[in-house]
Amino acid sequence: MDNKKVERVYTAYASVYDHTFGKAFKQSRESAVRGLSIKPGCQVLEVGVGTGEALPLYPTHCDVLGIDLSEGMLEHAHRRVDEFNLSHVTLRTMDAGNMLLPDDTFDIVMAAYVVTAVPDYRKVVNEMIRVCKPGGRIVMLNHFSNGNKVIAAVEKFISPMCKHIGFRTDLALNTVLEGTSLIVASKKKVNPLRFWHLVECVNKKNGQQPVFANGLALNGHVS
Ligand SMILES: C[S@@+](CC[C@H](N)C(=O)[O-])C[C@H]1O[C@@H](n2cnc3c(N)ncnc32)[C@H](O)[C@@H]1O
Repeated sequence: MDNKKVERVYTAYASVYDHTFGKAFKQSRESAVRGLSIKPGCQVLEVGVGTGEALPLYPTHCDVLGIDLSEGMLEHAHRRVDEFNLSHVTLRTMDAGNMLLPDDTFDIVMAAYVVTAVPDYRKVVNEMIRVCKPGGRIVMLNHFSNGNKVIAAVEKFISPMCKHIGFRTDLALNTVLEGTSLIVASKKKVNPLRFWHLVECVNKKNGQQPVFANGLALNGHVS
């Protein structure tokens, strides 16, 4: 799928999204945002913000920029911003694979159900790393291909069909992280079927040594 097709598919979903995917993944979004313990003044980027389901969850003491390709999805996000009076949230139409944003800007970059919905996950992840501050956090809430060989084979088989409806099912977390500066700080299974993961990474770019909540610094990938 290219960006135009993604735009078309998600704009077509927009009016039913909140009643379907929006509802189904509500709990995991809540747990993702609440788990961030966002500090006052924190700069947050939400990539592929969609209809803005997660926006009311961010504390008003941080600044949130939500970007998305789909005008249809963003229209609903704008309505949510108005409805909840979210003056700390800004929305922009933007390709996550080519962000018109400066380097090292955000403390937290969130991508909920996005890396498998974009045409080129590598470009998007590289952009998330670029705009995230060294030592900042990159959070992905997503389905990643299963370690179980049988399930992985099914995921690989259905992926080409799923691409037509806006996502792929065959992407593994290791593939996403390979060759990047991201270190997994925590990873847990979420949603009723436990097929989805909440993965919090630290952006170790420019040789930045991440320091975790317990004060320890770490060198390699943790999974
Ligand atoms: C499955 S939806 C997830 C929406 C929202 N994050 C949520 O949790 O409900 C994927 C979103 O990613 C957006 N998207 C796909 N490719 C994109 C790209 N290259 N740049 C920005 N947004 C993109 C789609 O338009 C859609 O709104």
